[in-house]
Amino acid sequence: MAALALGQIWSRKLLPVPWLLWGLRGCASTNFKAADLQLQITKEPRKKPSPSDSLVFGKTFTDHMLMVEWNRKKGWGQPRIQPFQNLTLHPACSALHYSLQLFEGLKAYRGQDQQVRLFRPWLNMDRMLRTALRLCLPSFDKVELLECIRRLIEVDKAWVPRGSGTSLYVRPVLIGTEDSLGVSSASQALLFVILCPVGSYFPGDSVTPVSLLADPTFIRAWMGGVGDYKVGGNYGPTVLLQQEAQKKGCEQVLWLYGPDHQLTEVGTMNIFIYWTHEDGVLELVTPPLDGIILPGVVRQSLLDLAQTWGEFRVVERKITMKELLRALEEGRVREVFGSGTACQVCPVHRILYKDKHLHIPTMENGPELILRFQKELKAIQYGTKAHKWMLPV
Ligand SMILES: *Cc1c(COP(=O)(O)O)cnc(C)c1O
Ligand SMILES: *[C@@H]1O[C@H](CO)[C@@H](O)[C@H](O)[C@H]1NC(C)=O
Repeated sequence: MAALALGQIWSRKLLPVPWLLWGLRGCASTNFKAADLQLQITKEPRKKPSPSDSLVFGKTFTDHMLMVEWNRKKGWGQPRIQPFQNLTLHPACSALHYSLQLFEGLKAYRGQDQQVRLFRPWLNMDRMLRTALRLCLPSFDKVELLECIRRLIEVDKAWVPRGSGTSLYVRPVLIGTEDSLGVSSASQALLFVILCPVGSYFPGDSVTPVSLLADPTFIRAWMGGVGDYKVGGNYGPTVLLQQEAQKKGCEQVLWLYGPDHQLTEVGTMNIFIYWTHEDGVLELVTPPLDGIILPGVVRQSLLDLAQTWGEFRVVERKITMKELLRALEEGRVREVFGSGTACQVCPVHRILYKDKHLHIPTMENGPELILRFQKELKAIQYGTKAHKWMLPV
C-alpha cells in the first residue's frame, strides 16, 4: 500500500500538468454564463475620487463587484454584479489556511474618445484558468468570465479615471472556501472581481529608476514549484525581503536563481536587458518561460513589439550575474528594466550585489528603449492607435 502510494506520487511528479488535469476533470464541471448575470445596483453610491486626488495603489474601490460561487455538487451558481461588500468566510476556509488562492491583475484605460478599453485581457484569462487548474480550483469558461468583467466595468464606468497615465486596475480572485482543515481539493470556491481606480505610476512622460538588492540566499521560485503561477502564496513571503532591500537602501529585490546566479525577476516584474551581447549583436533579452518565470502580459507585449520593429535581436535566454558584470565592465549594457501591469516598464539604475553597488547606465542611455516602449504602449492602451490587443468595454 505504502509502496503503491509512493509510486503514485513519484509518477505524478513526472507527468506533465495536462495529464494531471485529465484526472481532475470530474471536479471541474459546469460553466457560468454572462447571459445569466444578476445585476444589483448599489443604493448608496460612494463619492468618486476627483482628478486632483492622488490615488494610492489598491486602496480605493469602485461601487460594485462581481461574485460567482461554486460547489462540487451544483457546479457554478449565477454570476452577480452586486454592491461592493465584505465577504463572510468560515474560519476554516481553505484559502486562509493553505493558500488555495490565486489572483490576476489587468487594467482598463479611458481614451481621449472616452471609450474604455481592456489591455490584452485574453492573456489574463488564459493565465487565470491555468492557475485554477494547478490549484484544483474549478475551471470556467474564459470567454464568459471576460464578458462578466466587461459588464462589471461597464456598470462602474464612471470610476475609470480621466487623467493622463491613469487607469482602472482589475483584480480577479479565485479562492477555495472549503470549511475543513483537511488538505484536499476544495469542494467549494468563490470567484470575485474588484476594481480600483489608480493614478499614473510615473508622473508626466518621465520614468523614475529603481535600485535593486540581489542576494542569492533568497529564492522566489524554483524548478518544479509554482513561481510561474499567480498564486497568493508566492507573494506574502516576499514582504520580508522587500523590507531587507529597503534596510540596505534599495527599493526592490532582484531575484536570483541557481549556482550561476541567474537574473529571473525584479520584485513582481519580469526583467529585460538591452545590451550588446558577447557575440557583438545588439539585443533585447529576457529569461525564458522555463518554470520559474511568471508569464507576464507586458513581458509578452514588449517581446511582440520589439519583434515587429525588427531593429535588433529579440531573445528569451538565461542571463547570469557573471554575464551582466562582464557586460558592465565592457560598457555593453544600455538599459535594464522591469515590466509589469502596474508600471508597464520600470528602469533599473543600481544593483547591490555581494556588497558592491553596481551602477547601471540605463538613464544615461535615454533610456531610449524604455521611453519608446512606454510611448508605444500608451498609444495602444489609450486608443490613439487602434490595435487588436484592446477590448472595448
Ligand atoms: C504579475 C507579475 C508579473 C507581471 O505580469 P504582467 O502580466 O505583465 O502584469 C511579473 N512577475 C511576477 C512575479 C508577477 O507576479
Ligand atoms: C468590512 O470589514 C472592514 C474590516 O473588517 C470593516 O472595517 C468594515 O466596517 C466592514 N464593512 C461593513 C459594511 O461591514
